Amino acid sequence: SDPDLVARATAAKAALGDRVFVLGHHYQRDEVIQFADVTGDSFKLAREAAARPQAEYIVFCGVHFMAESADILTADTQQVVLPDLAAGCSMADMAALPQVENAWDVLSELGLTELTVPVTYMNSSADIKGFVGRNGGVVCTSSNAKRALEWAYQQGEKVLFLPDQHLGRNTAVLEMGFSLDDCVLYDPHKPNGGLTAEQLREAKMILWRGHCSVHGRFTLDSVNDVRQRVPGVNVLVHPECRHEVVQAADLVGSTEYIIRTIEAAPAGSAWAVGTELNLVRRLALAHPDKQIMFLDRAVCYCSTMNRIDLPHLVWALEELVAGRVVNRITVDADTAHHARVALDQMLALPG
Ligand code: 13P
Ligand code: SF4
Repeated sequence: SDPDLVARATAAKAALGDRVFVLGHHYQRDEVIQFADVTGDSFKLAREAAARPQAEYIVFCGVHFMAESADILTADTQQVVLPDLAAGCSMADMAALPQVENAWDVLSELGLTELTVPVTYMNSSADIKGFVGRNGGVVCTSSNAKRALEWAYQQGEKVLFLPDQHLGRNTAVLEMGFSLDDCVLYDPHKPNGGLTAEQLREAKMILWRGHCSVHGRFTLDSVNDVRQRVPGVNVLVHPECRHEVVQAADLVGSTEYIIRTIEAAPAGSAWAVGTELNLVRRLALAHPDKQIMFLDRAVCYCSTMNRIDLPHLVWALEELVAGRVVNRITVDADTAHHARVALDQMLALPG
């Protein structure tokens, strides 16, 4: 990275001292991650944000929904900054509050809302988390989806899982013993989600039709191809990948799990990793004694994660030094209150 920008970021961080806390998601660029006080997956970063009451400013190097969660979980006196406001998430954008309220009305007309517990993946807007909190549900991340679903099925008989169909399906079928027939796919662009009343009544798991544009690109062909090219390769993927990809893989887990698995792997072992490319490249560099490769032949960064680059980080930090808070992310009090109920429910899950 540009040495001048590195020096400016270093100086700005030093000038702010403990007043600033920089969080970096594992999918961030190297040039940004070097300035993170803590790196993590979305679950770890949510906890870290909550555990830093002394920091006046939380600079979130990640995407919008993560910064919103940090704002909800931190004290009112703390200010959360997202260095580029264009760092959104295409998956989170696939579930808008009016669409979800409409789906809830469909279930209500069938008398099903009493039996249904809404569960939302962390990768959703604060509005959606607020909706889930208002309706007795819970937030989950890829590290705790199974525990969150187990909790949800103690509260009710059905789950409406938002917005990632793959995480929902993979967890239900591969970790909880559900069949594919127990799950239905609710398409918010079709009347009644494109489902019949009978399908909605019978389903145990109503999956929202959302997906991650990065992990959704890996296919069964990617897995078969790498197994042919690299005999003995271990395939390790994130649960946002399609069901058939996760089924064909050797191991599946969140980004923290992927990192732990690679760290514990024996020297000389070969790994094809199905997650965002910044993380896979860093893992390969950090473990030259292991053969670590990207699961697909084509490169695949998360374009919105990549929006946070060193120039934006330097700008946000230097503005803070000058006493100006730029790109502050705030969630209104009512939404934040209900979203916090669903987030706290997640943080209280056993394990
Ligand atoms: P985790 O950080 O929970 O592994 O989620 C991956 C992701 O896509 C974040 O945007
Ligand atoms: Fe969203 Fe996927 Fe990017 Fe994560 S990797 S921020 S889920 S688009």
